[in-house]
Amino acid sequence: MQDTRVGFGSKIGGILAAAGSAVGLGNIWRFPYETGNHGGAAFILVYLGCVLFLGLPIMVAEFSIGRSSKASTGKSFSVLAPGTQWKWVGYLGVLTGFLILGYYSVVAGWTLEYILEAGINGFANNRPEDFVVSFQSFSQNPWKPLFWLIVFLLMTHYIIVKGVKNGIEKSSKIMMPLLFIIVIVLAICSITLPNSQKGLEFLFNPDFSKLNSSVFLSALGQAFFSLSLGMGCLSTYASYFGKDAKLGNTAVSVATIDTLVAILGGVIIFPAAFSVGIQPDAGPSLIFITLPNVFQQAFSGIPILAYIFSVSFYVLLALAALTSTISMHEVSTAFLNEKYGMSRGRAAKIVTAGCIVIGVISSLSLGVMQDYTLFGKGIFDALDFVTAKIMLPLGGMLISIFVGWYLDKSRVKNEFTNYGKMKLGLFNVYIFILKYVSPLAISAIFIKELNLI
Ligand code: PFF
Repeated sequence: MQDTRVGFGSKIGGILAAAGSAVGLGNIWRFPYETGNHGGAAFILVYLGCVLFLGLPIMVAEFSIGRSSKASTGKSFSVLAPGTQWKWVGYLGVLTGFLILGYYSVVAGWTLEYILEAGINGFANNRPEDFVVSFQSFSQNPWKPLFWLIVFLLMTHYIIVKGVKNGIEKSSKIMMPLLFIIVIVLAICSITLPNSQKGLEFLFNPDFSKLNSSVFLSALGQAFFSLSLGMGCLSTYASYFGKDAKLGNTAVSVATIDTLVAILGGVIIFPAAFSVGIQPDAGPSLIFITLPNVFQQAFSGIPILAYIFSVSFYVLLALAALTSTISMHEVSTAFLNEKYGMSRGRAAKIVTAGCIVIGVISSLSLGVMQDYTLFGKGIFDALDFVTAKIMLPLGGMLISIFVGWYLDKSRVKNEFTNYGKMKLGLFNVYIFILKYVSPLAISAIFIKELNLI
């Protein structure tokens, strides 16, 4: 059975698929508004610390779980620790991915509306206040966002049904290079705008007085969200890696690409926003209200550039979102397929239908269902808070404890060194972080920020 398991056709295919999962709305939508809300460069420094000291080792741990169990996350813990309660960590991952996919697809759907709007030149001649009104009336409309949400989930569904190699790998190989080109061109355009240096200062010049207590949980949650960690998404992808994939190198590549795109996302957004005097702390609507306005104002003398910039930006967002939604969908689809023996097609249909339900509720919670709350927040915000700031770090901590303390050391070492073919290098540091640093750091942040004691 193990030999017939499908897999990625090439090493680069695996890296691009994992990077595709990591690079998404988290980089271009969530990272800029979290950075904007938490004061800029100082937040980014804490974020980088989280990526380096927690994200990287936990990513290697997830890769090891996936590759050595040859199973998706929902089943991998039962394979590696049969008869124990560790299986719940896998189930937690499946649930987390399913919930994130539901509300994430709402925002992913918005990108399609904005591609259309930008494509028909609907932003031209708008006044700044028009962008606020049009975003609010769109996102609160009971039907339009639902339509786009469903379209986006069906696109995701289509790729998933095509399978690991012909769907996930092939689409990542096309979409990721395209995405890089668009990010780089947009970043260059943005820094050539007048006054762009203020935006760059905001991004790169830390003001530590801006560090308040919520920064740490936000940076931690953002790191897990952005790197697709803590729910076994990358471990599911790693179960499709070949024996020769170098887990440490792959993790460094994925984390570097992800961080670079997040920073470049900031380089696109903040110089453009500052250049027309817009404040960076607009929150989740930053890229949907502020940016179309920024594009129009920044290129007011050259309407064709405003047009190209707007269309490419939303195409970029949609591509980034799609490579991430397929990765989340895969976690639940592979789980139903492996655990209950369902065909991929049937499993995918159930996941898509379930996510449409969560997506519809999240979307309506921004409009007609605004008054329904969960933990004192609207349903959309509550889902984002609970998944990104609690479930992902908790999952990451449990994964870290599992590999650091429970899993047989020779297995962990074999995965790290590709069965002795590579040097042991940083192995002791890796284990030290998994055993002590990440469980303690994540617990400390939880205790402090969630007022647990
Ligand atoms: N990493 C994705 C992003 O930054 O948009 C979101 C994501 C994908 C989170 C997959 C979690 C996950 F398992």
